[in-house]
Amino acid sequence: MKTDIPYNQLVDAEGRRQESCRRAQLASKCLIALACVACVLLAAMTLYNILTLPTSSYHHHPASITSRLQEKVESCSDPCKIVLVESIPEGLEFNSSTTNPSIFQAWINLMSEARSSVDIASFYWTLTNEDTGTQEPTASQGEEVLKRLAELSGKLNVRIAVDTQEGKPQADLKLLNDSGADVRTVNMRALTSGVLHTKFWLIDKKHIYIGSANMDWRSLTQVKELGAVVYNCSCLASDLEKIFEAYWFVGKTESIPSPWPSSFSTLYNKDTPLQLPLNSTPSSVYLSSSPPSFCADGRTQDLQSILSVMEDAEKFIYIAVMNYLPTTEFSHPKRYWADIDTQLRRSAYEKKVHVRLLISCWQHSPPVMLPFLKSLASVHDFRNNLDIQVRLFMVPADPSQKEIPFARVNHNKYMVTDKVAYIGTSNWSGDYFLSTAGSALVVNQTGSRSPDPTVQSQLKAVFERDWHSAYSTPITHSSNLKHFC
Ligand SMILES: *[C@@H]1O[C@H](CO)[C@@H](O)[C@H](O)[C@H]1NC(C)=O
Ligand SMILES: *[C@@H]1O[C@H](CO)[C@@H](O)[C@H](O)[C@H]1NC(C)=O
Ligand SMILES: *[C@@H]1O[C@H](CO)[C@@H](O)[C@H](O)[C@H]1NC(C)=O
Ligand SMILES: *[C@@H]1O[C@H](CO)[C@@H](O)[C@H](O)[C@H]1NC(C)=O
Ligand SMILES: *[C@@H]1O[C@H](CO)[C@@H](O)[C@H](O)[C@H]1NC(C)=O
Repeated sequence: MKTDIPYNQLVDAEGRRQESCRRAQLASKCLIALACVACVLLAAMTLYNILTLPTSSYHHHPASITSRLQEKVESCSDPCKIVLVESIPEGLEFNSSTTNPSIFQAWINLMSEARSSVDIASFYWTLTNEDTGTQEPTASQGEEVLKRLAELSGKLNVRIAVDTQEGKPQADLKLLNDSGADVRTVNMRALTSGVLHTKFWLIDKKHIYIGSANMDWRSLTQVKELGAVVYNCSCLASDLEKIFEAYWFVGKTESIPSPWPSSFSTLYNKDTPLQLPLNSTPSSVYLSSSPPSFCADGRTQDLQSILSVMEDAEKFIYIAVMNYLPTTEFSHPKRYWADIDTQLRRSAYEKKVHVRLLISCWQHSPPVMLPFLKSLASVHDFRNNLDIQVRLFMVPADPSQKEIPFARVNHNKYMVTDKVAYIGTSNWSGDYFLSTAGSALVVNQTGSRSPDPTVQSQLKAVFERDWHSAYSTPITHSSNLKHFC
């Protein structure tokens, strides 16, 4: 991270620079003479080099600098193809033509593409009815995923990083381990007092999935999820690999290196994103990560990526997340944590950006979320051009769906602005940026002249479909939400 230079040091440096300029003026004649001598010498030396050295002068650089330079100039020419994918809970219907392929189908496709390796970062595993003590026919997709993955575990190099979860079902992990997968638990509680909440797949170091879905059968048929799959994109996949390797590393060492070895460093971040073609559209892309202690040199922290995407917005910021709280949820004592909240109010006030938050409402929603959402929603006044709006999204359940524990909820974790798409894995409260492991994909296709829809426009269509659907309800300062969720 860049350290700020104190103001007085800046003045000091400026003063000294002016002093040396004056001296330089006095000595300018002398310098011109010196420069001429130097030019002659340089020319002679260059000639000498050319005559005597057959190899490139790059060899005079230290090896590490040379390879960094070379890595940087190489542009990515992979034919990367990105697809937004969703899980729509059984029975949900939208009056909209916006549809995306299912996460289930994406996972099946990824497994059928796999030739050498599958790496999965995960929170917990409950892919079968047995794990959840249910008898739901809609668990069959999860069961299919587990079956295919177990088959692959016997043939390919399958690695699974999972949070150490006391009390969570272990049957899937045992099956995968017994089938030949390498399963490693990451004790985030001991490392950072958080959890490993990341959810992504890496296939053959070439294809990736990242998004909100857990390795849970309900995430395929009973919970609303959103993610992205990127096919044929080893440039991006090898950067995600570094985040996976970090989980794999701490799963073994049980301590967080500081600093991280340079093999975990990245060149791609919010300031120098990876330039690549996505669906033939020139794009800037990077992956952010949390918590900060897991970010090796060069990696943008997840919170910084969210704040910078918001700062960059000029017209609108649409956010769909399950939980939104300007506090921490799990720390003791509880803390107020308003970095994101402040940025939203600032964008609405200073830049007249239209802000929409689509937040989930279910029986497990933290009650304290509502007063804070009402507070945000009250920043709405036409005369002053203030426009923050909040809606609650509720997934209805029939009597038998109501029996399924921890289901029937919108679990999305994304943001779309007039410029950029941000697809994450974290709830939006303090803990997820301070202590919990999560990651996000940021796609910037501003300036694209391609006729194909951008990721930003596709994600905006998803947001608008949900925002205008019968499942969302506006909340205002005066809403009575006592028994709402
Ligand atoms: C994982 O499988 C190996 C054999 O490949 C076995 O020795 C080990 O006990 C298994 N671990 C668990 C947690 O089941
Ligand atoms: C990935 O590239 C291969 C080889 O060029 C191609 O056959 C395949 O269809 C591509 N996959 C996708 C999803 O575009
Ligand atoms: C997106 O790309 C444009 C053009 O390169 C750049 O000006 C802008 O800062 C980028 N936005 C973000 C959030 O990275
Ligand atoms: C998001 O927050 C909720 C409520 O605190 C929590 O139950 C849930 O586990 C979090 N998300 C996931 C996928 O765990
Ligand atoms: C779809 O449109 C019909 C008729 O306009 C309406 O009755 C229904 O509630 C809408 N459903 C959703 C899910 O928006």
